[in-house]
Amino acid sequence: MSATLITNIGELTTNVAVDGDPCGTLQDAAVLIEGGRIAWVGPAADAPTSARETASGSRDSGINPQSRRAVEVSREKGAVEVVDAAGRAVIPGFVDSHTHLVFGGDRADEFEARMSGMPYAAGGIRRTVAATRAASDDELRRRLAGFVAELRGQGTTTFEVKTGYGLTVRDEARLARLAAEVTPEVTFLGAHVVPAEYADRRDEYVELVCGDMLRACAAHSRWIDVFCERGAFSADESRRILTAGIAAGLIPRAHGNQLGPGEGVRLAVGMGAASVDHCTYLDDDDIALLAASDTVATLLPGVEFSTRQPYPDARRLIDAGVTVALASDCNPGSSFTSSMPLMIALAVREMGMTTAEAAWAATAGGARALLRDDVGVLAPGKRADLILLDAPTRTHLAYRPGVPLISAVWVGGRAT
Ligand code: NIG
Ligand code: FE
Repeated sequence: MSATLITNIGELTTNVAVDGDPCGTLQDAAVLIEGGRIAWVGPAADAPTSARETASGSRDSGINPQSRRAVEVSREKGAVEVVDAAGRAVIPGFVDSHTHLVFGGDRADEFEARMSGMPYAAGGIRRTVAATRAASDDELRRRLAGFVAELRGQGTTTFEVKTGYGLTVRDEARLARLAAEVTPEVTFLGAHVVPAEYADRRDEYVELVCGDMLRACAAHSRWIDVFCERGAFSADESRRILTAGIAAGLIPRAHGNQLGPGEGVRLAVGMGAASVDHCTYLDDDDIALLAASDTVATLLPGVEFSTRQPYPDARRLIDAGVTVALASDCNPGSSFTSSMPLMIALAVREMGMTTAEAAWAATAGGARALLRDDVGVLAPGKRADLILLDAPTRTHLAYRPGVPLISAVWVGGRAT
């Protein structure tokens, strides 16, 4: 079995909490990857390098003896690739738990108008719906592949993709199917907006989402989502839709409190959602509910950046004990960026998060929001999804905004 030893890591973020450090930060560390999984993590000085091993015999350094033996054997066969991080930082791959990557068209004109003072409105979604319906499977697939490459190049190793720009049974099913070709984290979002043709028949549309549309999408999806917001779906409609999704075996998550105060958080927590996303306008009760629940508050600062809205108050959430994740919300309307480093920079600059909190939220936090315990953490047995930064510490992700700092990315142990 081939193995990779990344050694001479100046700062390793493991996200295995130690002594008040949720990032489980190690200096001068090494990581051994075998069979697509992390086999060992520890001080570089204890890494099973052949010279050191010969010199120190069976010195006990806490290394799993089996891993040590495996590396020695692999080395003898010349099968261990050694990567010298040369003092640079390694962090877990980013987990982007909220994207809308299957769509046609472009809304750059809306962005221009917003930058000249027009407000963002949920209704813009309908323009992308028209362009998406008009696009062929191959066009959508090609575009999606381009986004996946874009994500990887920026260090994202796990990502969720929502439907929501089809809004017919056929189109939603096709978006779910295409999304499932690139990720296991597919979310059915038939309840994105009420499409124009149902404008006077909202109830019928909700019925369709809960019935035929859900049935057509459930097999390709893991999650059900709803845009619970003024201009999209009410709390009652959202509850009906999430309830139907749960009955079909999907796990609930929700968009809430994006454009103003509302019922999104209350609804999501009440329904045991894994995550409620946006959380821009929260009151004390919302925060107390989140703090007492397992629902993750996923913050999407690309939206506030691109819509000129106030940023969510991450500090208030974290201080109250809420689990916070960061995600890109990459979509053509409110946040057309897939850059998790940008989310970290915005969270630190604008939302009161420390760089450690932001790095955690973009990795382990995203994993929590997707109920994944195999990613977001670098520990033996976890998936070998990691990033070598072209920087000595993760702080540089916020300190050097806009600079490409992703030097190498491993997905399931493979360098991409
Ligand atoms: O998460 N909030 C709902 N959906 C997207 C916006 C989609 C669009 O404008 O096309 C979001 O911001
Ligand atoms: Fe969204």
